[in-house]
Amino acid sequence: MLTNFQIHPVSFIKAMSKALELSSNGISKHHRRTAIISRYIGMKLGINQNQLQVLIYASLLHDIGAAANWDEKHFIVHTDNDNLVFNHAEAGYRILKESARLGILAEPIRYHHDRFCGGNPSGFVGTEIPLLSRIIHVADRIEVQIDDSQHIFRQRDKIISDLQENAFFDPEIIKVIRDMSKIDAFWLDIVNIDYVNNFINTLSFFEKLLFDLNDMISIAEIFAKVVDATSPFTATHSKNVAKVCKELARIIGFSEQEVDQFYLAGLLHDLGKLAIPNKILDKRGRLDNDEYEIVKQHPYYSYRIMEEVDGFQTIASWAGTHHERLDGSGYPFKLASAQISFGSRMLAVADIYCALIEARPYRDGMTIEEALEVINEMVLEMKIDANIVDVLRQNAKLLYTLIARKELIS
Ligand SMILES: [Fe+2]
Ligand SMILES: [Fe+2]
Ligand SMILES: [Fe+2]
Repeated sequence: MLTNFQIHPVSFIKAMSKALELSSNGISKHHRRTAIISRYIGMKLGINQNQLQVLIYASLLHDIGAAANWDEKHFIVHTDNDNLVFNHAEAGYRILKESARLGILAEPIRYHHDRFCGGNPSGFVGTEIPLLSRIIHVADRIEVQIDDSQHIFRQRDKIISDLQENAFFDPEIIKVIRDMSKIDAFWLDIVNIDYVNNFINTLSFFEKLLFDLNDMISIAEIFAKVVDATSPFTATHSKNVAKVCKELARIIGFSEQEVDQFYLAGLLHDLGKLAIPNKILDKRGRLDNDEYEIVKQHPYYSYRIMEEVDGFQTIASWAGTHHERLDGSGYPFKLASAQISFGSRMLAVADIYCALIEARPYRDGMTIEEALEVINEMVLEMKIDANIVDVLRQNAKLLYTLIARKELIS
């Protein structure tokens, strides 16, 4: 169990940024590379340390508004000659604006596709667009232009000349980029995977400021919403699991801090679902083998992303093993019985109960009795923990009231 829950924001934001980069083929680098480029530009422009922090964090999360929707994800990698590109910028703003810790990133993200020449939904033209947004816009465009199959030095002149000819971008920033382009290290930093992975750790932001458990929960709630938005069928699933798991932990008698950790684990357990395309999540019939394979990746990525957050190892291991089964039939680590921790077993039971009560594309939500019947069957098959299921059964009505169920119009 965790004792000291003081986490450096960089470590957590970096992990969340990676979650936004999940694709069905794994983790890409768009946000982190955009942040590297933004940082170079910000430093060259001489913006102050505070602004530089906001710039880098905003760059790391700039496409958060596209993460839940694969049609929107399309705009992450395509050039922005289409007005639809504004949608995810606005969505990102809405996701972040209420956050006590990350609200400051909402504005730069809102205008990160605003065009210098105008014609934006905001009505802004030129320097009316916030500076940090103008920087992210240029950094983003450079990043998406890079073709990883070719040497970067062979591409840089073309990338810069494309930017120069484009009225979408701030000419002052283009001037800075043109100067920077002569520095080989600038380009090599963008394509050096070691540097991309580590550069955030080398920053000394918010040195004295640490996130406590409540800060983490409020940010995890944002990401739970992003994950849940991947499908109308799971619109509140992460939140539901978090609430049920927390209540189970409270009933069983865990300490207050542990109870909060179960809540956090519930919020983030399906983070890796961002790697599953919406068309699979929303599919009405049975999944075919290829589709199921993609679905099965999600706890693996929940684990690999979260284990990198200092102090998050326990939560990561619960989340990463919520689809393991006591009889060894689960995934992705093929654990069995004693290898599966109590926390993981609790999360599994909470997850199953919520999933059964919630509607799915191929069935309605179940009643308490129907859900318990399925769960009892799983106990008989030695898949899930009988003692935890006892607690669930005794409190099934109370726990049911915690599960928000969205009525679906089919
Ligand atoms: Fe974007
Ligand atoms: Fe982007
Ligand atoms: Fe899951």
